Amino acid sequence: MTDSLTIAITGASGLIGRPLVARLRADGHTVIRLVRRQENLRDDEIHWNPMTTEIDFSSLDGVDAVINLAGEPIASGRWTDERKKLIMDSRVQGTALLAAVMNRSQRRPSVFVSPSAIGFYGDRGDEELTEFSMPGKGFLADVCIAWEQAVKAATDVGVRVVHPRIGVVLSRKGGALREMLPPFKLGLGGRLGSGQQWWSWIALDDMVQVLIECVTNEQLRGPVNAVAPNPVRNVDFTKTLGRVISRPTIFPVPPFALRILLGEMADALLLASIRVLPMQLQEAGFTFEHTELEAALRAELD
Ligand SMILES: NC(=O)c1ccc[n+]([C@@H]2O[C@H](COP(=O)([O-])OP(=O)(O)OC[C@H]3O[C@@H](n4cnc5c(N)ncnc54)[C@H](OP(=O)(O)O)[C@@H]3O)[C@@H](O)[C@H]2O)c1
Repeated sequence: MTDSLTIAITGASGLIGRPLVARLRADGHTVIRLVRRQENLRDDEIHWNPMTTEIDFSSLDGVDAVINLAGEPIASGRWTDERKKLIMDSRVQGTALLAAVMNRSQRRPSVFVSPSAIGFYGDRGDEELTEFSMPGKGFLADVCIAWEQAVKAATDVGVRVVHPRIGVVLSRKGGALREMLPPFKLGLGGRLGSGQQWWSWIALDDMVQVLIECVTNEQLRGPVNAVAPNPVRNVDFTKTLGRVISRPTIFPVPPFALRILLGEMADALLLASIRVLPMQLQEAGFTFEHTELEAALRAELD
């Protein structure tokens, strides 16, 4: 049983942030939300702006932990130069700002959970990737590397920093699964490209628990792969999703069509093969509620 903690969260309104806040409150913790909105702030909200580096430097004083979920959504539009800059800067500047606040704090948080993503590893075929694997190449890998490095001012003063490298979070409310559902429900689903690429997924409930584990388990430090232990190939993901919603999945989508539709994102997000194993979590004894894709999809969609 963990003592009641005070936890500051950025990006608390997002897909992962909402259930995380609810879980933490249900567990008896106090949550402070750092929000970009300036108007109608509630008692538990503090204004910040990672892009203009606005923040009250006393805002993290006396806070036990910070969980940093803010960032321009990765897949909400084609990757123009402008959007790429926003995706990068919103993460790197926001993280560096929080680290700088911790650095200057009198009573600083003991742990900073600052996520990254499995995009860190790039497109790696069948290679099994652990936290010890080298980074990959490409825009997402560059973002993840810079995002992880941006915590330096916090590590410099002894804050324990954990980087959950988040996989494909399964939720009907957002992310990849929500985008896939409409065509699949119409019976128009199919493998993407060859379908041989590995997808490393995690159930939303498990994702929330992983973030809490990162806060409470003092053994965890540095990169922590936030994925279920059984990644699957896209062709198997496709068949499993079809089975769960009782629809055929007979229309493969050729890579050129994905590239016309999504540009560079198609290769980085859908066609890249990233086979990640949660080595640090398993060594720490973390128990996943969902280790098999079919059960995870049924729990989310049934
Ligand atoms: N969901 C996934 O499958 C997945 C996979 C890998 C990595 N991740 C990473 O995990 C983090 C949380 O994911 P999520 O799915 O919960 O994200 P999300 O639903 O897109 O929410 C992110 C939150 O960030 C804030 N935000 C949005 N645009 C921003 C901008 N331009 N600058 C600064 N803050 C901005 C918003 O909060 P406010 O409006 O309250 O400020 C938003 O609610 C993100 O960094 C994401 O890249 C997610």
